[in-house]
Amino acid sequence: MIETANRIKSVEEYYFSKKLQEVRSLDSPDFPVINLGIGSPDLAPHPTVIQALNDAAIKPDVHAYQSYRGIPELRTAIAGYYAQYFDVKLSAENEILPLVGSKEGIMHITQAFVNPGDRVLVPNPGYPTYGAVANLVQANIKYYNLREENNWQLDINLIEKLELDKVKLFWLNSPHMPTGVQYSKETLQKLVALAKKHQFLIVNDNPYSMILNKDYQSILSIEGASEVAIELNSLSKSHNMAGWRLGWCMGKTEFIDAILKVKSNMDSGMFKPLQIAAFKALKLGDDWFESLNTVYKERRVLAEKIINKLGCSFDENQQGLFLWAKLPANISSSEELVDHLLHEYRVFLSPGFIFGTQGQGYIRISLCANENQFKTALDRFQNYQP
Ligand SMILES: Cc1ncc(COP(=O)(O)O)c(C=O)c1O
Repeated sequence: MIETANRIKSVEEYYFSKKLQEVRSLDSPDFPVINLGIGSPDLAPHPTVIQALNDAAIKPDVHAYQSYRGIPELRTAIAGYYAQYFDVKLSAENEILPLVGSKEGIMHITQAFVNPGDRVLVPNPGYPTYGAVANLVQANIKYYNLREENNWQLDINLIEKLELDKVKLFWLNSPHMPTGVQYSKETLQKLVALAKKHQFLIVNDNPYSMILNKDYQSILSIEGASEVAIELNSLSKSHNMAGWRLGWCMGKTEFIDAILKVKSNMDSGMFKPLQIAAFKALKLGDDWFESLNTVYKERRVLAEKIINKLGCSFDENQQGLFLWAKLPANISSSEELVDHLLHEYRVFLSPGFIFGTQGQGYIRISLCANENQFKTALDRFQNYQP
């Protein structure tokens, strides 16, 4: 019997990795499953971005291994994007590191900064990968609770009580998934002050800021944050390029060099035509975001109707690619509801429990399906009684 390593005993296969097999097995031409569960944009990237990929891919000299630091044009475009939308000035030379997606960056950063036993603060509810990766490096995870009573805001008073001297890494996700809340500038300033005082690293994972949000914000725009903070971002949601696997991290040179040490030993530079297309995408400008958000706004109206039909309630001010909603009082298990809707109505939503104990009692609906699919889902729920 060949035993697996102890570290994987502490993690489960990713919920969607298993659940989507079940979703697919229920799909049939007569009664297709409408997947409103995952945040994988169904819309296409801008045609000029696809053209740039095509044009580059037919060249003979683009197929070799690429620099681990990414091509300079991509780093320059990322610096321009952050200056334009986030008011953050970065050196394209040494403060930006392109990555194969920001999910991969979560692993690189954790490996670069966290020793076994180090304390890592993780949001609950939150993106499950922060905790899973912390488990893989045998860190000591401490979840910090976000609560509906506090409008899901980061509660700095609560954070201050968490023995911060023992903390090495703080996972911040603003705008936050799944709650759709963006933290105020004052909150981020207080968090940065705490990180300086107790010497821990903040990593803001920021893939949703361009979706249904006008107030683009980066932790790196907070005064003094660059001493203690790194930011992750990607083209997955903002440019409909989730499958392309294009992300990056930003921070001071010492942080980037540490991450590069891990990255350069684990993976390689991305395919050059992808990087060329990525810098094209980053230069699309305001029109792109306007047209993208027009579509999401229409879908959001339909998503709200579905949520109302299910007897759930939600905060209208949410931003991002999802709608996070509270179950009616007579339903306590998000998992049971989601399974019931999947099996009876062939509509898949995400149960809130997968984002942590604070997510139990909530569901998440994704805006990544077309108008027809939303309308069909709504029709199927016509006679639904919560
Ligand atoms: C909060 C959050 N961070 C990171 C990711 C990963 O995104 P990427 O495609 O950039 O790896 C996701 C994807 O769903 C996410 O929801």
